Amino acid sequence: MNQYNTLCQQLQQHPQTWLVTGVAGFIGSNLLETLLKLNQKVRGLDNFSTGFQHNLDEVEHLVTPEQWQNFNFIQGDIRDIETCNKACSTVDYVLHQAALGSVPRSLEDPLTTNANNITGYLNMLVAARDAKVKRFVYAASSSTYGDHPDLPKVEDIIGNPLSPYAVTKLVDELYARVFAKTYNFKTIGLRYFNIFGQRQDPDGAYAAVIPKWFAGLIEEETVFINGDGETSRDFCFIDNCVQANLLAATAQQENAADQVYNVAFGERTTLNELYALIKDRVVDTFPHAKKANPVYRDFRAGDVRHSLADISKASELIGYTPQYSVQKGLDKAAQWYISKFTS
Ligand SMILES: NC(=O)c1ccc[n+]([C@@H]2O[C@H](COP(=O)([O-])OP(=O)(O)OC[C@H]3O[C@@H](n4cnc5c(N)ncnc54)[C@H](O)[C@@H]3O)[C@@H](O)[C@H]2O)c1
Repeated sequence: MNQYNTLCQQLQQHPQTWLVTGVAGFIGSNLLETLLKLNQKVRGLDNFSTGFQHNLDEVEHLVTPEQWQNFNFIQGDIRDIETCNKACSTVDYVLHQAALGSVPRSLEDPLTTNANNITGYLNMLVAARDAKVKRFVYAASSSTYGDHPDLPKVEDIIGNPLSPYAVTKLVDELYARVFAKTYNFKTIGLRYFNIFGQRQDPDGAYAAVIPKWFAGLIEEETVFINGDGETSRDFCFIDNCVQANLLAATAQQENAADQVYNVAFGERTTLNELYALIKDRVVDTFPHAKKANPVYRDFRAGDVRHSLADISKASELIGYTPQYSVQKGLDKAAQWYISKFTS
């Protein structure tokens, strides 16, 4: 049995209280689902800026009524310190996901991205420190590697940020380190690499590539590839990301805290390969997708060309063992997008 399975058993025997910020979003709602299924008590915080009530409704249908009773929701904003204090009081662990994602959004509106991702983050850090939570785990980002060309990415070697979004995620890491040094409040940052899966929003100008392409192929809309399609990413299925969060929150090893970890699968997929993998999973239910071809357009500002993570640090220090390859994750994601568009 791996470390994660052991942890899940322990949590079921000794339930804990968790705060998930950004709980109505993609990653937050998946954390909520797993924690409730493990009979944990969960407090959720969200302002519905990019998250949805329907994500919470879906989780309610996936857990038992007794498990749903263990969920307590605060509609509020992390830019307000009082809300953060209230949300953090009496919780064991904080999984801080609330932020404004998307590189293009940050290029268009750096002020709002800064307010949510830096001021909001700092409020949460102060509130969690003051509430003396056992561990503060936060969503960092692979965008922190910026323009550094080395592959695979190892945590200690970063370049210059390429977007306001990347700046905010780097500043969050700097604050985390300073809080460890000055207040002995040790946190863990998880640098997510292109997470995908159920409940990732396919709509809107800032949708991520995988949900956007599922929706485009299913709904017979043009699918655009930015650049020549040879841009590559380390796509990581959501269940791997959930595993990393729970392991990080509870990691006992002395040197596991006051660290950042890559959260990825550890393999590179080009956009051309990704398009073919998604199309394969859609054609049986939507035969019209067989004839579809992507339209290539300009490279997008702020995007890095290649991304691939070295995940050995997370494996060694917190016991991270991702169970889902890109293919296996896309199988599960496809089931969800197909059922969403056919129901
Ligand atoms: N999805 C990825 O591939 C990826 C990659 C790197 C980092 N991240 C980070 O992971 C976290 C979660 O991302 P996601 O993909 O689930 O995005 P998401 O947009 O689905 O979820 C973010 C949630 O945070 C909430 N939120 C935003 N600002 C808030 C505020 N001021 N107060 C309260 N709630 C607020 C939103 O309403 C939303 O529900 C973010 O911090 C994001 O930057 C995600």
